[in-house]
Amino acid sequence: MAEHPAYPVGLRLSGRRVVVLGGGQVAQRRLPALTAAGADVVLVSPEATPSVEAMADAGEIRWERRPYTEGDLADAWYALIATSDPEANERASAEAERHRVWCVRSDDADRATAWTPATGHSEGVTVAVLTTDARGRDPRHTAAIRDAVVEGLRDGTLVAPHHRTRTAGVALVGGGPGDPDLITVRGRRLLAEADVVIADRLGPRDLLAELPPHVEVIDAAKIPYGRYMAQEAINNALIEHARQGKSVVRLKGGDPFVFGRGMEEVQALAEAGIPCTVVPGISSSISVPGAAGIPVTHRGVAHEFTVVSGHVAPDDERSLVDWPALARLTGTLVILMGVDKIGKIAETLVAHGRPPATPVALVQEGTTAAQRRVDATLATVAETVRAEDVRPPAVIVVGPVVNAGPPVA
Ligand SMILES: C[S@@+](CC[C@H](N)C(=O)[O-])C[C@H]1O[C@@H](n2cnc3c(N)ncnc32)[C@H](O)[C@@H]1O
Repeated sequence: MAEHPAYPVGLRLSGRRVVVLGGGQVAQRRLPALTAAGADVVLVSPEATPSVEAMADAGEIRWERRPYTEGDLADAWYALIATSDPEANERASAEAERHRVWCVRSDDADRATAWTPATGHSEGVTVAVLTTDARGRDPRHTAAIRDAVVEGLRDGTLVAPHHRTRTAGVALVGGGPGDPDLITVRGRRLLAEADVVIADRLGPRDLLAELPPHVEVIDAAKIPYGRYMAQEAINNALIEHARQGKSVVRLKGGDPFVFGRGMEEVQALAEAGIPCTVVPGISSSISVPGAAGIPVTHRGVAHEFTVVSGHVAPDDERSLVDWPALARLTGTLVILMGVDKIGKIAETLVAHGRPPATPVALVQEGTTAAQRRVDATLATVAETVRAEDVRPPAVIVVGPVVNAGPPVA
């Protein structure tokens, strides 16, 4: 029987009688997929594992508490033979053959008329892996192939673009702080399926190098903007490419909605009637301090953290930040885009009540190979930034959490 490979097929079992003989571990493993397929499952077995029993109690399967008897398979479409009695398995197998019921045997794959593949699911498809030969069966190998395919599809390392269901539009993807492993699984998959990627300077640039050659990668900073503002030019580029029917990924550093101008792009796309999906990302405001050993909160030390933009100085009339109020808080301040203005910021915080000895850490290019942490206090930070030549991008953390972790080497 095993001279030929098995013929793969998907059984549509909804409402159809499936008989399972034996209520042990094999049944326990197979029953969820059978009930998920809508099969009318009858379990014949004197005993069952607690999980199988729970399925019977919940009405998911019918359980006849008795051993197998001749005739049990007469009306079945499909059978799973998995009792601990080899002689009963043999008789049931013969009955299945007589009634032309396809059957799986847990004790003897060679004598079974059907094999169960290793299965997994990804985005509307079932991946099923079958061995070609019962004698060379290696269930771990088939399971490993299944895992590799499903994982690859999930994280985008295996590229299988949707052709029929794929809709043109834009995905605003938060790429995380820079380490290519810190993008979400969904973001990575969308990236792998894109026709066009418009990327910021920050974020997981290494992932761009892995994209297939047909993908057009556009550096957002280099889009010519002529009479428009740079952001308008980016919005227009997104709209233009999407209108050409392409799948566009707008890859941003961190999270699209944390100082990322993500909502401006969402609004522009909505006005242009272009479908847009937003994929959150790991923001540098939490992950970069964490990567440098700094928790933004710590029990008994900080019960709050505030993320604030330092791109304009506290005395600048464009500033929307109430720095005196932040100075009165005792918790953690996380400052993004603040390297240039940290001197003025530190001065303002001290002038309004934060102790000059408050610890400060600057984490430059966090989560990348070039990550670097420089420590100071509010009193010394301006000079330290100059002396140590700290440059953007850096996250600045102010507060006692800076010293919460073990000493940095
Ligand atoms: C325009 S904001 C974008 C923030 C981003 N949307 C996020 O959620 O992380 C850019 C600032 O984020 C911070 N930043 C982003 N990635 C960083 C990294 N890998 N290391 C240090 N700072 C980073 C810096 O303060 C930088 O100036």
